[in-house]
Amino acid sequence: MPEASHQLRCVGCSAVISPDSVEKDFRCIDCGELLEVEYPSWSAAGASTSAPVAGTEPGPRRMPNPGALRWLWQERLQSRLPIDQSGVWRFRELLPILLQPEKAVTLREGNTPLYSLLQNAEDLGLEQLYAKHQGMNPTGSFKDTGMTAALSQARERGFQWVACASTGNTSAAMAAYASRARMNSLVLLPEGKISWSKLSQALDYGAVTCQLNTDFDGCVRVLADVVRRAPVYLLNSVNPYRLEGQKTPALEIAEQFDWQIPDHLIVPGGNLANSSALGKGFLEMMHLGLSNKVPKITVVQAEGANPLYLSLLNHDGCEIQPMQATTRATAIRIGNPASWRKAARIIRQTGGYCEQVSEAEIAVAKAEIGQEGIGCEPASAVTLAGLKKLVRQGKIHPSESVVLLLTGHTLKDSEFTIDFHQGKLLSADESAGMEQEIAQKRRPVLSLEASSDAVLRVLEAAIKG
Ligand code: F0G
Repeated sequence: MPEASHQLRCVGCSAVISPDSVEKDFRCIDCGELLEVEYPSWSAAGASTSAPVAGTEPGPRRMPNPGALRWLWQERLQSRLPIDQSGVWRFRELLPILLQPEKAVTLREGNTPLYSLLQNAEDLGLEQLYAKHQGMNPTGSFKDTGMTAALSQARERGFQWVACASTGNTSAAMAAYASRARMNSLVLLPEGKISWSKLSQALDYGAVTCQLNTDFDGCVRVLADVVRRAPVYLLNSVNPYRLEGQKTPALEIAEQFDWQIPDHLIVPGGNLANSSALGKGFLEMMHLGLSNKVPKITVVQAEGANPLYLSLLNHDGCEIQPMQATTRATAIRIGNPASWRKAARIIRQTGGYCEQVSEAEIAVAKAEIGQEGIGCEPASAVTLAGLKKLVRQGKIHPSESVVLLLTGHTLKDSEFTIDFHQGKLLSADESAGMEQEIAQKRRPVLSLEASSDAVLRVLEAAIKG
């Protein structure tokens, strides 16, 4: 069997850990910090300067030159092999985490579209504004790219059971990939605080689904104990293999921009792993000579769930104060984010920003993305809401190119959308100062008698505007 070509490194104390001796909670045994995957064989190419640990010495594998890699990844788009059809494993040279990549568990994730947002760009006076729509993945969110990587790792390591605590999307992705792999999954969800669509996915894909009378952060605490006491493999984003899959949209973005990296990438922040995963992808591409810059990575949080924003504002990103989180963007309703250090680091490394946005700003931005014919779930809309603030503050200039990472599909939370259009979503306090914008964006459902006259009257009025 081929040897593993990766090792794990603690982001706190830089200790190097062999994949075979990693703790069940994926934390450093010395300092308790999170780990990340690195590839010693890339050191020659400049990607890592660390020495390999015993048992993980790289084989004779050498990284092909950048031109050959770009060609190979394009060629695989024509292939019928399942792993070539995956937008994650198509780039497998950059995530050699499996001994047998041909056995990866895939639902043909990734290869998601990059849309231009023409109206939104015009409204903001920007020349180039795009949405990378990760909601177009098999289970409707960006989690699929990470799940194929980490769940394949779990299967290769012989686990029968996988588990996660979730605000809904991770559980949907995990349940689907576990079933594809004929494995079992355990989901812990905060009762009453996730959307019905996401809960329905976990059930449909066959997970053992538990709603706990607590919030997401409480579910994480309970799961930590479960994982310690039972032979289950943890699939929350503290699992560094998740991030290897979640870095691949960075490669797709580079490819979709003909390897000319955009100036800004804006992502929503919840448990705060995805921003660093994408940053890792961009940094690795640059180290390997595939591109010559990284975008500024900005994280946007909801005002009611903004621990990273406050940490950067008050403590220079060096410590974080857990909080009781509250926002209708339930996917990012997280008060004690596990990966805050990684997120703070990538914002610093790339020269990006951290912003917070209100409930009304999220709702309006979501409607605006909807009007582009694209749509997204509430948590994804924080990106456009945050962009508006950065443009107003002069931190993003009209000539710079901007990509918004839309993390979830609009059908993930249709209750939010319907409540917004029916005027039931926001309180008067929350809408204060934005009443006009909100009224312009709302589309009421019209109840009419069943006659063509009635419909034509509505149509004529609409045509006249
Ligand atoms: N957007 C959506 C749609 C999400 O589901 C999440 C996280 C995020 C953004 C934030 O990403 O945590 O990497 O900062 N959802 C997790 C879940 C927590 O359980 O589905 P992050």
